[in-house]
Amino acid sequence: MNERDSEQVARQLQQRGYELSSTEQEADVILLNTCSVRDLAEQKAINKMSNLQALKKRKGRVILGFLGCMAQSRGRELLDRLPDLDLIVGTQQFHRVADYVDQLLKEADEPIIDTREEVGSQNTIRDHVMEDRQVSAFVSIMQGCNMHCTFCIVPMTRGEERSRPLAEIEEEVKLLVAKGVREVTLLGQIVNLYGRHEFPSAEGHSPFVQLLHRLHQIDGLERIRFTSPHPIGMKADVIQSYAELPKLCSHLHLPVQSGSDRILKAMHRAYTVDKYRDIMTGLRKARPDILFSTDIIVGFPGETEEDFLQTKRLVEEIEFDQAFIFKYSERRDTPAAAMPDQIPQEIKEERNQTLLAIINRFSRSNNEALHGKNVEILVEGPSKNNSERLTGRTATNKIVVFEGDFRHIGQLLPVKVESSSHFTLYGDPVIHDGE
Ligand code: 5AD
Repeated sequence: MNERDSEQVARQLQQRGYELSSTEQEADVILLNTCSVRDLAEQKAINKMSNLQALKKRKGRVILGFLGCMAQSRGRELLDRLPDLDLIVGTQQFHRVADYVDQLLKEADEPIIDTREEVGSQNTIRDHVMEDRQVSAFVSIMQGCNMHCTFCIVPMTRGEERSRPLAEIEEEVKLLVAKGVREVTLLGQIVNLYGRHEFPSAEGHSPFVQLLHRLHQIDGLERIRFTSPHPIGMKADVIQSYAELPKLCSHLHLPVQSGSDRILKAMHRAYTVDKYRDIMTGLRKARPDILFSTDIIVGFPGETEEDFLQTKRLVEEIEFDQAFIFKYSERRDTPAAAMPDQIPQEIKEERNQTLLAIINRFSRSNNEALHGKNVEILVEGPSKNNSERLTGRTATNKIVVFEGDFRHIGQLLPVKVESSSHFTLYGDPVIHDGE
């Protein structure tokens, strides 16, 4: 979502004639978009900006901007640590950044700070910086979150849940497809609860499922993904979509956070581990080849060895193909930060390593199981590590790198998998006789 927000800012600047520069040294304006989810992300942003302040001292005139979640939650207070900032803009004012940059380039005496909330700001993230032959795009469909998980700072940085009108999202996706995009990833903090406050259900379909059906009808769109959903929104209509909508990809990132009911309750996650299992079972029935990934927090306050073992067992049972394991990080003003029994860093580290080892084993064996098999990929473009090669992804979200013809970019292509590493499959295009 942050990438998507940054793209909106870049697009607006481009529309006014600004150009993206390839290095910090040659830029006149440097904007840093920030994340507050964990302390580590915040420290990184502050360090990065301190270095940029040093660059500004050497270079003279550079406009430095600090955007997004940290700007929202800290506002003016950032100036104590980062006195050379010119611009501080929160999560609901990204669309004004270009105005502020114009203003600062004219007269940069006083820093500009804007962390206001704004009705309708969810509708402002809709423009795209299109790369040459871009195949895949993110589409932001809602902002904010009302779930109030006790560990999470997002309700404070992103505000209340607000969804965009269905017709506007459909229009945006149609435009993208007209420009060559073949895959969209719908974005929201709790994406599968899209529109629950704004729009009615129709024929047993929640607004989210209505959106999936509408997008599915767009000719030329081959694949639909979304991230991140919440288990409480994985109702029968969403699960049924996997049986009915072939463009919906066979991969779901469904954050579980913990395998202990006691901890889930303390996290204010309103489901049980059994309920989560039922969702997975339902999805596998609707879409037998589906692969799952998840987010897990280890070391939440009060997490005992027994709670952790339950998480470990769940990870082994579900065989997640990938998982992001986070060490619990105390966030200012969240209920969990004030809970007793905070867990020591060494234990968090140990639990983190234990889960990582299990997950790595699963991704490796899932990948090895594909050696010698054909998979269908959507070809995205040159591989990042080797521009002679192409890269694409399977519907199950596995990256495949191969040598092939660049005319295949944007096409669905069968590839025979030859080898693999943890995160990547390597293969060759399957050439049919007579082609
Ligand atoms: N500490 C550690 N991880 C966190 N996450 C959110 N808040 C915290 C926190 N305070 C993780 C959750 C979420 C992901 C985006 O970040 O697992 O799903």
